[in-house]
Amino acid sequence: MSLHTSPEILPFELDAIATTEGRIVVFADPESPLPPAARRADKLTRGALARAVASQGFARLSPGESITLAWPGGLQAEALQIIRLPRKPDAAALRKAGTSIGRAQDRAPCLICLDRLPVEPVLQAALLRAYQYEAQKSDPKPGFGPFSVMLRNPEAAHATLDDLRARVAGVHLTRDLVNAPANVLTTESFAAQIAGMADLGLGIEILDEAALEEAGLRALLAVGQGSDSPSKLAILHWQGAEGAPLAIVGKGVMFDTGGVSLKPGAGMEEMTMDMGGAAVTVGLMQLLAGRKARANVVGIVGLVENMPDGRAQRPGDVIRAMSGKMIEVINTDAEGRLVLADALWYAQERFAPRAVIDLATLTGAIIVALGHGKAGVFANDDALADAFLGAAAEVGEGAWRMPLDPAYDELIKSRIADIKNSAGRPAGAITAAQFLQHFIRPGTPWMHLDIAGVALTKTESAHAPKGASGWGVMALDALVAARFEQR
Ligand code: BES
Ligand code: MN
Ligand code: ZN
Repeated sequence: MSLHTSPEILPFELDAIATTEGRIVVFADPESPLPPAARRADKLTRGALARAVASQGFARLSPGESITLAWPGGLQAEALQIIRLPRKPDAAALRKAGTSIGRAQDRAPCLICLDRLPVEPVLQAALLRAYQYEAQKSDPKPGFGPFSVMLRNPEAAHATLDDLRARVAGVHLTRDLVNAPANVLTTESFAAQIAGMADLGLGIEILDEAALEEAGLRALLAVGQGSDSPSKLAILHWQGAEGAPLAIVGKGVMFDTGGVSLKPGAGMEEMTMDMGGAAVTVGLMQLLAGRKARANVVGIVGLVENMPDGRAQRPGDVIRAMSGKMIEVINTDAEGRLVLADALWYAQERFAPRAVIDLATLTGAIIVALGHGKAGVFANDDALADAFLGAAAEVGEGAWRMPLDPAYDELIKSRIADIKNSAGRPAGAITAAQFLQHFIRPGTPWMHLDIAGVALTKTESAHAPKGASGWGVMALDALVAARFEQR
């Protein structure tokens, strides 16, 4: 659950250190004199802080890491967290400091004595890392306690904090959506939630099955035809500028059983995250609206559920995509590319976008190739790919460029139709991307992000606890700011 995205900004008053309850965070560097907040905490604890900072353990910390004194005598607080930080920290050290704060955060309030340190990198990392998903507990609590920060110059912080809140809320929304189980977040409840985002100033349209049939999105509909949840296409439009929009297209498979080409049972529960591409799209659109980005961006998500059933599509079926291409369905588990084929085509037909970016938990093969630390980046446009890789590096989200090549088209030729949806194991992530490219108009800059490995992780990261990561929301926001926004 995303909560407490409105941290309190306090003036820098050292007396609060003695009386504040919960956890207090101060910064220190063994090589320099103690900064004022640490000095005050040291005085109140009768030298306990200075002894900790002079210890072997503290010397072993890298910048941004911390030790915590529990129930420090002389303070009302139950914990005093001391973060090692050089006097002139770089952005990475500041982010790491925020991560240390966020990881330690529980339900107690936390006061961060930032003094003159920049508030944005520290607080953003703390809020992102502190996230906890509580919605499925019988007694859901706020995921983490409130943060407040003490600043020397509090007025100056308020402007940057609005954008920070929007960014954190966008990432938290994406995680909430990915973490939500498939019986809770269905095509219908997801579409209803999206419809509610009209309040943020987004233009929202939801196409139902009749409208999709009418428009010819047979490939998308074929994936959902074995499910009792009706398939949908949702459009979220943030028109913060004139001109052709950037289109973001997300795979929203609410649950992927594989369909008639049923997946093995072990681990199948993970396929509740198969709407990760749609979740990033929706989180990003909320973010852009929240910070009133001066950009024209349209988000399009295809919402379906892939179930085996008497009405489900079969291996061997041939379907006509919206573009007119005939697709032979070799494997009903290669369903994401069917959804995207139509959602991508619809995006281009309807909006004539200046660029198209799709996100999808598309292949297990990208996990084999890159693991869980980096998403696969496929693009027909080097400038777009380079700009994205730069943006991802800037925000600390892993991404790696993968090849596209007409040579791979051989593998997806169909004997009886125009193209087939599966080429088996060799180069599985690339043949999937190559398939998608058949639904991109020549001349349209396009990038495909295969996020199967990064959307949900079994281990914690600097940004997030275990579970949904929200990968991509921040990188795409940074890309929009760098390349698609009027200044
Ligand atoms: N949703 C899966 C891909 C996936 C796998 C996402 C693991 C997250 C974790 C996708 O629909 C799928 O089933 N892909 C198949 C394609 C194959 C049948 C060509 C795959 O990767 O095995
Ligand atoms: Mn599948
Ligand atoms: Zn899938």
